[in-house]
Amino acid sequence: MSTTHHPQPLTAFARDVLQGLSGTPRKLSSRYFYDEQGDKLFQQIMRMPEYYLTDCELEIFERRKEDILRAIGLEQFQLLELGAGDGMKTKVLLRHFLESGADFRYQPIDISPNVLMELEESLRAELPALQVKSLPGDYFKVLHELRGGGGQPKVVLFLGANIGNYTREEAVSFLRSVAAELNPGDRLLIGFDLKKDPAVVLDAYNDPAGVTAAFNLNLLRRLNRELGANFELQGFKHWETYNPLSGEAKSYLVSRKDQHVFIKALNRSFHFEAWEAIDVELSKKYSISELESLAEQSGFAVQEHFFDRKGYFVDSLWRR
Ligand code: AVJ
Repeated sequence: MSTTHHPQPLTAFARDVLQGLSGTPRKLSSRYFYDEQGDKLFQQIMRMPEYYLTDCELEIFERRKEDILRAIGLEQFQLLELGAGDGMKTKVLLRHFLESGADFRYQPIDISPNVLMELEESLRAELPALQVKSLPGDYFKVLHELRGGGGQPKVVLFLGANIGNYTREEAVSFLRSVAAELNPGDRLLIGFDLKKDPAVVLDAYNDPAGVTAAFNLNLLRRLNRELGANFELQGFKHWETYNPLSGEAKSYLVSRKDQHVFIKALNRSFHFEAWEAIDVELSKKYSISELESLAEQSGFAVQEHFFDRKGYFVDSLWRR
């Protein structure tokens, strides 16, 4: 008479959490920061004075948009963007490209159909002449589907220093996978946050208002909401480090006390010792020589660097 309880298969999120919290050291992926709350907190981060990255890249696009289009130098192209977000900075380029009469179609790629719908809507309102075709899905799957002859040359945007979330090894393998889906002569415009005064880097991830702390702690709130965990947010502390040698800014959530946390979706509890840390994000900074060797190792040739006035950030144009 009793019905057998079949446990639900774990979602990819639950599986990653299980693996990350079972390992040593403990790790949760910054990929999961961006739920609805996380998106809002990230918008807030981008508006903080300490978070220079967004302002720098915006300045680069505003001051160098003519040079960027000239350097691309293609008659016709498909403009693809990996992880488009709200498109705030990209719109500066899009508007200029349109006004210059460039013949291109904008194809933002994002895993979230929601993000793409909102982006398309705002583009339709602000740049009605723009040809847009958004492509929901995994970057590589989508790029793979666009592969093949016949098509126009591609210009791929990977902006905002998103590459910084990868270790050097992960970045090589990511970029090689991008290169594998491109044809010779296709371009990649990629944003890197550069090595600079360590105090400036640290402040960007350690703001006094605590927005970054809230952004990181939201990951635990997401575990509570989506996986039925019972993390006590006051039980964890945001801690940031910057290693000027490796260029690695790292975020941790540190357990303030000895505690147990139960995660319903995993039907398991996890013990945290006092001051045990969870590794939650890497935001890697590069020197010019490091990023040039990264390009070379991944199958690209550096064509031109575009810097902001302070030399904090670079959008680098690479040729496959
Ligand atoms: C969106 C990955 C570029 O690492 O600077 C901002 C995310 N984390 N503040 C970065 C982030 C904390 C951001 N990226």
